[in-house]
Amino acid sequence: MQLKRTKIVDIFDPLLVGEKVCVKGWVRTRRGNKHVQFVALNDGSTIKNIQIVIDLQKFDEEFLKPITTGASLHVDGTLVPSQGKGQSVEIQAEEIEIYGTADPEEYPLQKKGHTLEFLREKAHLRMRTNTFGAVFRIRHHLAFAIHKFFNERGFYYLHTPLITASDCEGAGDMFQVTTLNLGDLPKTEDGKTDYSQDFFGKTTSLTVSGQLEGELGATALGAIYTFGPTFRAENSNTPRHLAEFWMIEPEIAFYDINDNMDLAEDFIKFCVKYALEHCKDDLEFLNKMYDETLIERLHSVIKDKFVRLTYTEGIEILKAANKKFEFPVDWGTDLQSEHERYLVEEHFKRPVILTDYPREIKAFYMKQNEDGRTVRAMDVLFPQIGEIIGGSEREADYDKLIAEIERRGIPMKDMWWYLETRKFGTVPHSGFGLGFERLILFVTGMANIRDVIPFPRTPKNAEF
Ligand code: 4AD
Ligand code: MG
Repeated sequence: MQLKRTKIVDIFDPLLVGEKVCVKGWVRTRRGNKHVQFVALNDGSTIKNIQIVIDLQKFDEEFLKPITTGASLHVDGTLVPSQGKGQSVEIQAEEIEIYGTADPEEYPLQKKGHTLEFLREKAHLRMRTNTFGAVFRIRHHLAFAIHKFFNERGFYYLHTPLITASDCEGAGDMFQVTTLNLGDLPKTEDGKTDYSQDFFGKTTSLTVSGQLEGELGATALGAIYTFGPTFRAENSNTPRHLAEFWMIEPEIAFYDINDNMDLAEDFIKFCVKYALEHCKDDLEFLNKMYDETLIERLHSVIKDKFVRLTYTEGIEILKAANKKFEFPVDWGTDLQSEHERYLVEEHFKRPVILTDYPREIKAFYMKQNEDGRTVRAMDVLFPQIGEIIGGSEREADYDKLIAEIERRGIPMKDMWWYLETRKFGTVPHSGFGLGFERLILFVTGMANIRDVIPFPRTPKNAEF
């Protein structure tokens, strides 16, 4: 009778000792001598390997030859307490089936430690390494935590479109979507591209944010969140920018900026705590291998109250700082990551929520303050990361919003549906966007955003 497979994550159960078990996985390493061979097998369910002990009296050496790093196996045997150190139990192999081999001359993931840069070139295989296994298991658990957080608080998950005819952030960094033949574009009488012949009958792009549609949901269902891919064609080759990233955007009716800040703080703390509780082995591995202050940093973020101050106060601190910044700071300029990190890592030594930014450096939809020059924006700034969340209270006044859209020259014809939220039963409301990969960067301690998404999309790179 065929034994039922046990995942390696479940094999360390003391009740299984002495039992016949079946495991399947990929060989991480193989070592040994003339009498006995040891294979470390991993199936991706945990960072831990199970040690397979192969008695050479029971197995033919020729048969064992193709069992090299990367080969895939099915092993039946008895789970026994381990003699050696490094593991509590091991499997005395009784039957071995080799599913597939991995020629050592060709398989790139040999035992020796590879650099993260090298592994980025092998993104189709890198999930088989300890590091990327850990990162992508943590990514999964964080995604699950996010749904759990909002579901438990009565938020509805709203699916907003990826293809859109409007530009939420107005930063002009959208990927156009077209089925027109770029080599032979149809023209209008005045020589411009005739988009009426395009698939949607107008110009369309991949969305930079689900917020505008999210606001429609919030002013109907009360509280919603989106969680999906967003796209930005900004040509920033930095360790914190992707052209395709995942964003979580809650949007809530009857929320002001303070409610919004409370939600953002609770939300991030919930996610970090969830990871500490559910990803212990993986976090301990990353803490040991990459950053010995990682787990400590995660605990401190949960414990500390985030500092809240205005942009104007932040600028005062930066100007008074005894530090040479690459980019100069002055009221009205956008903060660079070096400024954000100075406030968080050196000045306050804890996360910071900066509010009331100058109107000119923020998006059109933010609620205007009485001073006429700032808006009720909020950015959450994090150690190692800089901006992790951007959000605001929204301008709920129809006339003010129209005036701002006109002032910025945003085409009104693309916005009529959005404006109707303010025309019919407008309410105070707020929301924010969390960059999912930036959260994962923080939680894993990885330094480059390309290493926390399975298949990164960045300028000049769309491999895999
Ligand atoms: O600050 P952003 O541009 O805000 C918005 O898109 C709003 N519509 C959100 C809202 O209020 N609903 O982006 C939000 C977050 C940033 O704080 C950052 O964490 C992340 O998205 N982000 C990126 N992450 C990776 N790569 C990029 N190119 C990113 N651009 C923004
Ligand atoms: Mg922002």
